[in-house]
Amino acid sequence: MTSIYAVPMIPCQRHLFDIPDEIIYLNCAYISPLLKSVRQSGLTGVGRKSQPWQITPEDFFLSSERARNLFARIIGATCDDIALVPSASYGLAIAMANIEVKSGQNIVVIEDQFPSNVYPWRELASRESAQIHTVKRPADDNWTKAIKATINEQTRIVALPNCHWTDGSLIDLIEIGALCRDVGASLVLDVTQSLGALPFDVAAVKPDYLSCAAYKWLLGPYSMGFCYVAPHLQEGQPLEYSWMQRAGSENFSNLVAYRDEYQIGARRYDVGEHSNFALMPMVIAALEQLLAWKIQTIYDTLSARNLYIAERASSLGLSSVSDQHRAGHFLGLRCKNGIPKGLLQRLASRNVYVSARGNSIRVTPHLWNSDSDIDRFFEALDTEF
Ligand SMILES: Cc1ncc(COP(=O)(O)O)c(C=O)c1O
Repeated sequence: MTSIYAVPMIPCQRHLFDIPDEIIYLNCAYISPLLKSVRQSGLTGVGRKSQPWQITPEDFFLSSERARNLFARIIGATCDDIALVPSASYGLAIAMANIEVKSGQNIVVIEDQFPSNVYPWRELASRESAQIHTVKRPADDNWTKAIKATINEQTRIVALPNCHWTDGSLIDLIEIGALCRDVGASLVLDVTQSLGALPFDVAAVKPDYLSCAAYKWLLGPYSMGFCYVAPHLQEGQPLEYSWMQRAGSENFSNLVAYRDEYQIGARRYDVGEHSNFALMPMVIAALEQLLAWKIQTIYDTLSARNLYIAERASSLGLSSVSDQHRAGHFLGLRCKNGIPKGLLQRLASRNVYVSARGNSIRVTPHLWNSDSDIDRFFEALDTEF
């Protein structure tokens, strides 16, 4: 705990967002607000589509390459490993389309996992007569131990997040990745609730596929995302057969010289029309800001904030996953008797925004929050738990 307080922190960045003073928005896990710079990039992009004579063939590729590059830096990959996708689900469907599962094998997921990384596996399991093994929520919050105990020689796919989307409980993906490689299972990750705030290193975890929507912790717009595909899996089947995925498609005058070869690396898995003229510049502006702040420093800053909230909430009878088993950027406050009826509406009527997931009040502040936001959150939380 002490090390958290010893590291550099980022001061409140509210001035970079368009959030009125009276609003206490503690809900990044739901949807993050746009940075002013991100909004401006989107407006400029809309303007360019209004004047298409300014859009050149290179523009269909250059901003996409820039975004690929920035995302690759966040996870320690190369830009060739990154496909551009419109949602986490799309990236996970790429994984599903390219992993062979045999009858009798199993696919490991965790209890109450976000559905984007569950439905593809239910579908695949039912097609191939494979089994889904759902790891039950462990009483001691040690998901890593419970997941490792479930993986066996018949496990073909392990489909996980980095932290649970309801309460932030953390999964040690380095340990799980090593076990997956031992048993020959593919590791498929949905890191939508962590990437951008929780450091992630592709070289340490070695996932096969990693998918992430951009509109939460990456501070991007809705309908944009990224999918990392490990280098040995970059010759698989894309979900679409877009002209943009084919080699040489930058040359617009030669598009009907049809080519069988694809663009390099994971680009063959890109969604069609990925270079959305309004949304892609927004993604770029968001990723640039995250990298300027540094993911580790964002993590340390949010962790310190959440530790304070968790401690203060415990005196009201609200518990949370222990620091050891929780991703620092993410907090769920557990109500032993369930969330009091109408609590969220009462909080919203006082301009305080959090979410309810299961028995937890999900509190996910970010750099736009100030100390006084937290005081006002506790003032508004005037209920017995
Ligand atoms: C863990 C997780 N994954 C993914 C998503 C969004 O999924 P998609 O991009 O497939 O709509 C969410 C949204 O809440 C989420 O919490």
